[in-house]
Amino acid sequence: MKTIISLIFVVWLVNFGFAQKNPIIPEPVSVQFTEGKYMKVDQINFFCSPEEEFLIRNFSHQLAGLGVKLGKAKKSAIKSANLILEKTNQVSGNEAYRLIISPKAVNVQASTYTGLFYGLQSLLHLAVSNPQPNGLQIPCGTVLDQPRFGWRGLMLDESRHFFGKEKVKQLLDWMAFYKLNKFHWHLTDSHGWRLEIQKYPKLTSVGGIGNFHNSEAPAAFYTQAEIKELVRYAADRFIEVIPEIDMPGHATAANRAYPEFSGGGSERYPEFTFNPGKEATYGFLTDILKEVAGLFPSRYIHLGGDEVHFGNQQWNTNSDVQLLMKKHNLKDLQAVEFYFINRMTDSIAALNKTMIGWDEIVTSGVPAEKCLTMWWRHDKPEQLKMAFEKDYQTVLCPRIPLYFDFVQHHSHKSGRYWAKDYAPIEKILGFNQLYKEALSTRPELVKGLQANLWTETIHSGERLDFMTFPRIAALAEIGWSSSPQPDYAGFMQRMQNSFRLYQSKKIAFFNPENPESTPEIVEVKK
Ligand code: ACM
Repeated sequence: MKTIISLIFVVWLVNFGFAQKNPIIPEPVSVQFTEGKYMKVDQINFFCSPEEEFLIRNFSHQLAGLGVKLGKAKKSAIKSANLILEKTNQVSGNEAYRLIISPKAVNVQASTYTGLFYGLQSLLHLAVSNPQPNGLQIPCGTVLDQPRFGWRGLMLDESRHFFGKEKVKQLLDWMAFYKLNKFHWHLTDSHGWRLEIQKYPKLTSVGGIGNFHNSEAPAAFYTQAEIKELVRYAADRFIEVIPEIDMPGHATAANRAYPEFSGGGSERYPEFTFNPGKEATYGFLTDILKEVAGLFPSRYIHLGGDEVHFGNQQWNTNSDVQLLMKKHNLKDLQAVEFYFINRMTDSIAALNKTMIGWDEIVTSGVPAEKCLTMWWRHDKPEQLKMAFEKDYQTVLCPRIPLYFDFVQHHSHKSGRYWAKDYAPIEKILGFNQLYKEALSTRPELVKGLQANLWTETIHSGERLDFMTFPRIAALAEIGWSSSPQPDYAGFMQRMQNSFRLYQSKKIAFFNPENPESTPEIVEVKK
């Protein structure tokens, strides 16, 4: 009995007493604090190799950006240093790290720069959770950590609405804070072409005009110099940028610029496709991809490949397509689509890149070693099953709950529903239960998770914030943490830190704990 009472007391102490709670999102593998002990400093004296100094510079910049006031960081001898970066093979795993925090110093250990960077991100969470008027106060202890998945992605659609460089940088900053590492950039679609291609300037001067709610909005796009700047900005935060050039559908904007490569559309989706029957189309698109390959160091280029049937009806009467069908014995429009996908996959392979396609490509016959697929149609589990049967590397991004253009609270009026289903934060945290089978059938093929921010209903930076925050943190939690079931209450407690930061950075977030306190930022209708 006595033992049970002591045990209850200890449990109480840990949960409700004086115990320092872990404030880090995503939740690390292990966090142990030494009660009552802190490392307190008003200036960072760092010790690291010259090659690692950029990590300290980035970290200092992040601290200042989040309102932590410190003297200028100084290089120091190891004996007097209070922040020591240590590259060591004792911590294994490309993104793994260990933090050892004593009253005198923090040791960040990892076998890679990436690991050191993630160690510093966790340190950042510890620093901002104990705000001081000046300096830092970090609880002493040890953090051991490594991610569950190597792909922790966020996609932004800048075709439907264009947000611009500063907004993208802000998003990349928050991705880094939550240890997300893949930024999938949907740069072309029917409502606007947003990427400068030097060989075909009309893609942006004509194709860049308009957006989802105003077809006459002035041309908006990124120059190649801006793309390079953002790719570098992301790389400094250990984020890989994956461009998407959607084809053969969702091509209306490109077709406005270069109608000679249009394969037509349907009544609802006019000029929706590229012309797969015209040889010149392959040259045109390959030229574009050559420039894309030069701009983005990622080994991947996303080719889209989704929803072609929305607007390929004119292929039935297009003489080029009809000839192609005869020549290659293609029995229907889907066979034409797959012929196109296979050819463009080869173009990408010839550029030494790997193709990514939405889950439509699983049926296309593209060999598994040449591509990666993204499973998005949660109502088509058979598509995922087939991806696994064909050994496709797969990223899971099912609409429910990982499409962030779906509403996140039953009281919200703007955004999508699937029947009555939507994408609240509880559902994101419940991902492991919801997708148990998807995660366990061929775990070696699941590269990771991704949320997608489609922007038909998102016209402004404020509404983008509202749909992104705090779901981005829950995405990070399920993508990084190995916890079989993140607990909602514990997660929300850790979120208090983030909510405070969102407020101080004027992020227009949604607070699911107190929905009335953060009224919905609604869409602008056409
Ligand atoms: C998609 O949502 N069309 C991939």
